[in-house]
Amino acid sequence: MNTQESRVRLEVSLAKLRHNFETIAERVTPAGVVAVLKANAYGLGVRPIAKLLAGCGAAGFGVAEVNEALELTGLGLPVRILGNLLPGEIEAAVANDIICPVCDLEGAERLNAEAARQNKNIRIQIAVDTGMGRLGFRYETALPQILKLKTYSNLTPFGIFSHCPVAYSKYDSFTALQIERFKQLIASLQENGMTFVERHMAASDAINNFPASTLAPFNMVRTGINLYGYCDNEVAHTMDLQGVVELKTRLAAVRKLPAEATIGYGRTYKLRKNTIVGTIAAGYADGLPLALSNRGYVLINGKFCPILGRLSMDYTTVLLDEVPEAKCGDEVVCIGTQGENSILLEEWAQLKGTHAYELLCSFGSRVKRIYV
Ligand SMILES: Cc1ncc(COP(=O)(O)O)c(C=O)c1O
Repeated sequence: MNTQESRVRLEVSLAKLRHNFETIAERVTPAGVVAVLKANAYGLGVRPIAKLLAGCGAAGFGVAEVNEALELTGLGLPVRILGNLLPGEIEAAVANDIICPVCDLEGAERLNAEAARQNKNIRIQIAVDTGMGRLGFRYETALPQILKLKTYSNLTPFGIFSHCPVAYSKYDSFTALQIERFKQLIASLQENGMTFVERHMAASDAINNFPASTLAPFNMVRTGINLYGYCDNEVAHTMDLQGVVELKTRLAAVRKLPAEATIGYGRTYKLRKNTIVGTIAAGYADGLPLALSNRGYVLINGKFCPILGRLSMDYTTVLLDEVPEAKCGDEVVCIGTQGENSILLEEWAQLKGTHAYELLCSFGSRVKRIYV
C-alpha cells in the first residue's frame, strides 16, 4: 500500500459542503434537492461527497452516465441519469433500477423493450427542451409525444424535467419564458391525465435567480456547482455559499539565481537581479492552468509569491522576495487561505478565461483528494 504523502493535495471541506447544502435546501424548501454528482462529483471524489449529502437529506443523486450511477446505487437514495442513455447503457440501467431519462420516442422504445426483456418496470424521467437546445422533447411538439409514453407498459413516467441555459440574473427574460413554457406543458399533460411525482427545472443558476423555478408545480431542484460553493461566472450570487476546495503542495527547492537567468520553457521570464526563487511541486498535470504563467500567485508563509515564467507539468517557479526564510518542504497554498491571505478558484478562472466548473474537473488524477 502506498502510504507516502502526495505532493499535491486537494482538501475538500465537508463542513462547507454541508453548509452549502443546507443553505440551498433552505432556499428551495419545500422542494427537495437532487445532488448532481456527475464527473466524480465535479472532480472532487464522488463517494465521500455522496455519503455526506445523503446524511444531510439529499432527495437523490443525478449523474451523466450509467457507470457513475452504479457507483451510487448502494447509498439508499434514488439515482437518476440526467442526459440521455446510449443504447449500450440501457441493459445495465434497467438491471440496476436507475431512474432513466427519456428524451425521444425512439429512446423510449428501446428502454421499454429492454425493460420487458428483463421483466421489469422502470421509472422514467422525461426531458423537455424548453430552450436549452441540447436534449429532450421540444416543448412545441412535446404534448402528443409525451402522452404516447403512457402506452409503454414497462415504463412508469415518474419525473419530468427541463434545463435553463441563461438563468444568470433575475432579469433574464428567456428563463422566465422557459418557466412559462414548461408550466404550460405540465398543466396540459395533467389535463390529459398524465401527472408526475417529480417536476423540476432549476439547477444552480435558476435557484439563485428564479424562485418561480423552485415553486409549485416544481417540487425538486438539481444542484451541482453551488454545492461546491461556486457559480458560473456571470451568475448573480444570491446565497451565502462557501468554496469547498483548497489546493496545497510543497516547496521542492529554494535556489539563488543570478541576474539575467531565465525561467522555464520558452524563457518567458528573465531575472533583473540576483534573486531567490522557489520551485513548487505542482504543475499543469495537477490542474494548475498554464494561464497562471507569469500572472498567477501562490501563498508561502502567508505571503503572495508571484509565478515566474511558464509553469511546467510537475513544477512551477515562484519569486521568494517576500519570504526569504522559505525552505524546501514548506507548505505552498495554490488555492485557499494561509495566514491573512487567500487565493480563490475564481481568480484562476478569470486568468484562464474559464469558469469554476472546468477548473474543478481539471485537478489531476495524481492529486490526492482529502476530506477535512
Ligand atoms: C440537466 C442538468 N441538471 C443539473 C445540472 C447541474 O448544474 P449546476 O452545476 O449548474 O448546478 C446539470 C449540469 O450541467 C445538468 O446538465
